[in-house]
Amino acid sequence: MRHLTDPTDLTRKETDDIVALALDIIANRQKYSEVCKGKKLATLFYEPSTRTRLSFTSAMMELGGNVLGFSDANSSSVSKGETVEDTVRVVGNFVDIIAMRHHIEGAPLDASLVSLVPIINAGDGAHAHPTQTLTDLLTITRELGHLDNLTIGFCGDLLYGRTVHSLIKAMSRYEGTKFVLIAPDELRLPDYIKHDVCEKNGIEYREVSSLEDVIGELDILYMTRVQQERFADKAEYERVKDCYILDTEKMALAKEKMAVLHPLPRVNEIAKAVDADPRAAYFRQVGNGKFVRMALMYTLLKWAEEGAAPLENHKAVEVEGLTCPNRKCICNNENVEPKFHITDSGVYRCLYCDTKVK
Ligand code: CP
Repeated sequence: MRHLTDPTDLTRKETDDIVALALDIIANRQKYSEVCKGKKLATLFYEPSTRTRLSFTSAMMELGGNVLGFSDANSSSVSKGETVEDTVRVVGNFVDIIAMRHHIEGAPLDASLVSLVPIINAGDGAHAHPTQTLTDLLTITRELGHLDNLTIGFCGDLLYGRTVHSLIKAMSRYEGTKFVLIAPDELRLPDYIKHDVCEKNGIEYREVSSLEDVIGELDILYMTRVQQERFADKAEYERVKDCYILDTEKMALAKEKMAVLHPLPRVNEIAKAVDADPRAAYFRQVGNGKFVRMALMYTLLKWAEEGAAPLENHKAVEVEGLTCPNRKCICNNENVEPKFHITDSGVYRCLYCDTKVK
């Protein structure tokens, strides 16, 4: 069974095919209006969402299918203590595909290990958000016409920003990609992504703290919200929350063809005046989310019917006595056996949340 819990659950070619399918759906909406007739999607959202949940819902409706689910886990038997594994085992009897958002990292991967139907990670804690990545790839394609040879500046909360982590993984597979990581010291990109993704793939990157100094070299500026809900120390959040504000003065320093992306919601990090700039692509980006989720669900349901085998990118190694140090990981929150994978550089990481354990 094929699932999407991480961008690497799709090969580069499969990713490109889904983006191409989304473009065909945009050009030929009627052709796809019944391709999922009789199919049902469950949206299991344990954490708030506007764009992701509603775009999944709208996407399945546009494919001719139906949708059920919850947007507040407290209204389900989760409030009685039902685990993620038991919940998806149950829900898999009622639907053909599940989109899950969870504040616990690794919950969608745990779900995929027991599920009867394809699981799509709709965002797990600070870890990953692969359908936002597909949205971002489609947006870059539509805005700039290509995914190769781009310099992408990620700005803001690179520590907790799951959309950043997933897009870096995906963009590292394209020729000529360069990253400029713009963040205060407290919100730098996690080491595992710098080492296991950027360095492993030979991607040029540098860490800076000034947006003004680098904006002129960027093809894409990917702004992010400082993720208040992930901070244990609220005083720390208050200190960094307005670390970057994109305004018209900074936009004046950017290339004429630069595109500004943001997964949204925004708080203060982009001034409203920037919305009128043709380079502000973030509201067009939201619309792309529906089309790429249509392409993804259509593809995963087709693969399920064909009995397609998964990639071998979540292979656990036999190792005793290790524990995951991430208190937000599924294996520290539910009765889930810890599992680990080992990187090319010999580092043990949690299979569910990628946290370094040894
Ligand atoms: N981009 C995104 O994930 O938005 P929501 O949290 O509203 O789903």
